[in-house]
Amino acid sequence: MLAVAVFVALLGCLRAQELRGHVSIVLLGATGDLAKKYLWQGLFQLYLEEAGKGHNFSFHGTALTATEQGQEVVAKVLESLSCPKDVAPARCAELKDQFQRLSQYRQLKTTEDYAALSKDIEALVQREGLWEAGRIFYFSVPPFAYTDIARSINSSCRPGPGAWLRVVLEKPFGHNHLSAQQLATDLGSFFHEEEMYRVDHYLGKQAVAQILPFRDQNRKALDGLWNRHHVERVEIVMKETVDAEGIKPSALWCMGQRSSQLSHGRDCPPIFSSSYPCPCRPQGPGHPCAGTWHTPGRRWVNPRE
Ligand SMILES: *[C@@H]1O[C@H](CO)[C@@H](O)[C@H](O)[C@H]1NC(C)=O
Ligand SMILES: *[C@@H]1O[C@H](CO)[C@@H](O)[C@H](O)[C@H]1NC(C)=O
Repeated sequence: MLAVAVFVALLGCLRAQELRGHVSIVLLGATGDLAKKYLWQGLFQLYLEEAGKGHNFSFHGTALTATEQGQEVVAKVLESLSCPKDVAPARCAELKDQFQRLSQYRQLKTTEDYAALSKDIEALVQREGLWEAGRIFYFSVPPFAYTDIARSINSSCRPGPGAWLRVVLEKPFGHNHLSAQQLATDLGSFFHEEEMYRVDHYLGKQAVAQILPFRDQNRKALDGLWNRHHVERVEIVMKETVDAEGIKPSALWCMGQRSSQLSHGRDCPPIFSSSYPCPCRPQGPGHPCAGTWHTPGRRWVNPRE
């Protein structure tokens, strides 16, 4: 799973530096859909794999959601976590209980909230007689929120000297090439390059990833048809009831265009790169291609512009 892979990759770099000590993982957007579906489970898996290896963790779920409401959401998610199949139920309950005790929710809204989080982490580390190895911030928030959060982290939530900072940013960011460049510049003023990890996530990826294998498995039947002589255009409609929040259009955006034309290009599968004539174009609301994807105030990015 993507989230696990990212966290494990981050820890891989910790291990390379032989850093041991306390690691705080701050999940921004901890009550959101992506966090509920994937990220908390990813963090739990990380805990299962890494806790025995010397790192000491705390997990801080954060969002704009009010404290009590957020705590309720996170408590429910933590309750629903699952263990690998080979873990016995009793042991699983024990592990979940441990993980729940290391995890907490807090509202993170103002710069003061970030400063308070920083103080609490320092207090926790001191109280437990540990030393702080580093902090990881995972941005599971819409791209328009990145800059403000980055500013607050830089000004008020950096770990002290000797400890590292890592931020995980989900692409795409910005709504076109220019705004993506602007955002990259902004982020670059708050974080050093080695502190930033950019990952590509879009819902629909799993389904989309099956398109090529599907074609391959049906080569005999489809080869004569799946080409520019017979396909006028390809439309990808993802039937989702959750709000797009500026994130999901990336799936269409990504799929429809050649990789090189995208600001987050190289991660896009080149499914439609050459043999397909007319990928799904930007469409206004009401078009089946836009469907639930259209977010008011935003529009599709058209790299041809
Ligand atoms: C972190 O250290 C404290 C104090 O030694 C301990 O109680 C806690 O279980 C540790 N957590 C992990 C994840 O190892
Ligand atoms: C980042 O934080 C440092 C230390 O507080 C500060 O000197 C610097 O101006 C900040 N960067 C920006 C772009 O605000």
